[in-house]
Amino acid sequence: MAETKQFRAIKGTRDILPPDSALWNWFEQTAREVFESYNFGEIRTPIFEETGLFARSIGAETDVVNKEMYGFGSPDTEEISAFVGFLNNEQVWTADYGLLRGFYGVARKFQERLKTLVHADEFPKGANLKLAEQLDLSLSIISHVLSQNPATGGLIGKLADKDAEEVRRAVASAQVLSRGVEYPQSMSLRPEATAGICRAYIEHGMHVRPGNVKLYLMGPMFRRERPQKGRYRQFYQVDAEVLGPSDAPGIDAELIEMLLVLFRRVGLVKTKLYVNSIGDKNCRPAYVEKLREALRGVKERLGADSQRRIETNPLRVLDSKVAEEQEIIATLPKISEHLCDACREHFSQLKQELSLRGIQYEENWRLVRGLDYYTRTTFEVTAEGLGSQNAVCGGGRYDGLVEMLGGPPTKGIGFAIGTDRAILSIEELGAAPKPQALGVYVAWMGKAAYPAAVEIARKLREAGIAVELPAEEMKFKKSLGLADRLGARYALILGEDEVASRMYTLKRLADAEQKKLAEAELLEYLESERRSG
Ligand code: HAM
Repeated sequence: MAETKQFRAIKGTRDILPPDSALWNWFEQTAREVFESYNFGEIRTPIFEETGLFARSIGAETDVVNKEMYGFGSPDTEEISAFVGFLNNEQVWTADYGLLRGFYGVARKFQERLKTLVHADEFPKGANLKLAEQLDLSLSIISHVLSQNPATGGLIGKLADKDAEEVRRAVASAQVLSRGVEYPQSMSLRPEATAGICRAYIEHGMHVRPGNVKLYLMGPMFRRERPQKGRYRQFYQVDAEVLGPSDAPGIDAELIEMLLVLFRRVGLVKTKLYVNSIGDKNCRPAYVEKLREALRGVKERLGADSQRRIETNPLRVLDSKVAEEQEIIATLPKISEHLCDACREHFSQLKQELSLRGIQYEENWRLVRGLDYYTRTTFEVTAEGLGSQNAVCGGGRYDGLVEMLGGPPTKGIGFAIGTDRAILSIEELGAAPKPQALGVYVAWMGKAAYPAAVEIARKLREAGIAVELPAEEMKFKKSLGLADRLGARYALILGEDEVASRMYTLKRLADAEQKKLAEAELLEYLESERRSG
């Protein structure tokens, strides 16, 4: 017998089962409540976007874009590029009628397929429809010549001289046209939310909305990282962004306050907030050059990754966790000593704004973050119980990103909480609320009791009580045993006597205390129980 394959979740992905999922819902629900109290509104963006959007915003040289994105094209792209490859191969298509006929057949198929894909919105319209039309002229010349020389048996005769030149030109022009196909953009699963939110902000002209636009987003993100505790390939973020005309430091501080209010509400204590300013386009380039110079001086003492980054992205060397590099990094020039006046002032006001709110923080000049879009403020929060992946939230300012994506001048700041890590930490701290227990198990016996059981179950559920109603009749003992194992608070005992007298027996499973109640009393009693928790 063939062995049956057991499918498992793909490495780096996982299932979240009840009752754990209740904890996730509670965390996300609390975030919604806190964020909405700060006047944020929810935005939902697609899970995949054009690859170019991420490359442009996060930076082509970052690990996230360079190594970790899940990208995919469409099979149609392969099909069309196979057509183009065939039409443009080394073959001298005009060598004889047979080859020419072959070229013509494939070119027509290519033209038809391209048109179909354009009409199905799979391929971009503009250039491709024009190309398909222009192809008609060349193909009709070829077709005309072929029709004058109907295929008979051999069909591989040499082209008549009078046709040769015209046909050669028609083939060449069809080839040039085919090479001009505009392919659909390659797509990638989102590795983070900020780029998609900025794209949506521009696409929907959200800059005309009054004041700064405050948005939050929750959902899965995808990065091909090496899986370990707190690091997954599909992970979840709770993201918040403020976009608009103002970059007042009070916005940065309020955003951080909101984050910490959420953490406090969900019992995520013992966190540490680190802040930094990484300057802007006026002061950072000069600092990066200074840093690069200094790094070149110590290049031999650095590992391969840091050596490479000296040229590609020297700021990232500051992020290095390699033990042997720490002492060297401590001696490097610090950005805080090279900020321009405006950035220094912004950072100093941010710190005042944090103090005004009673927020404790630590400055960390090495906090440069792994994404290229940041300017000025960067911050990170670490939590306990997470091992090496202890960053539970990262964020910062990205003034100019919207402009870089083709939008109007816009300031921006935001953060993303790693939900997986937040939940892990809450669990380790023992701060998770108990999942809501099953309220009532309806232990019915005798066919005659079943309709009454169905009815009372519906009424209790309408009153907001979680009810389990066994669909099959069971022996009384077995039924109560199941109620126990399901963790029900109460068993509602419903036999033929109860139905006849319209009095229900309610048994509290923790201490076996029983009460006899009429329907109205039962509802009232259970509702007040539920309210008092
Ligand atoms: P990030 O630092 O790349 O920033 O990610 C934010 C948080 O997502 C991290 O602190 C971590 O908790 C979580 N995270 C990242 N990768 C993984 C993973 N593989 N597994 C589990 N958790 C992970 C951003 O994504 C920026 N978009 C934040 C931002 C918003 N900046 C401005 N606005």
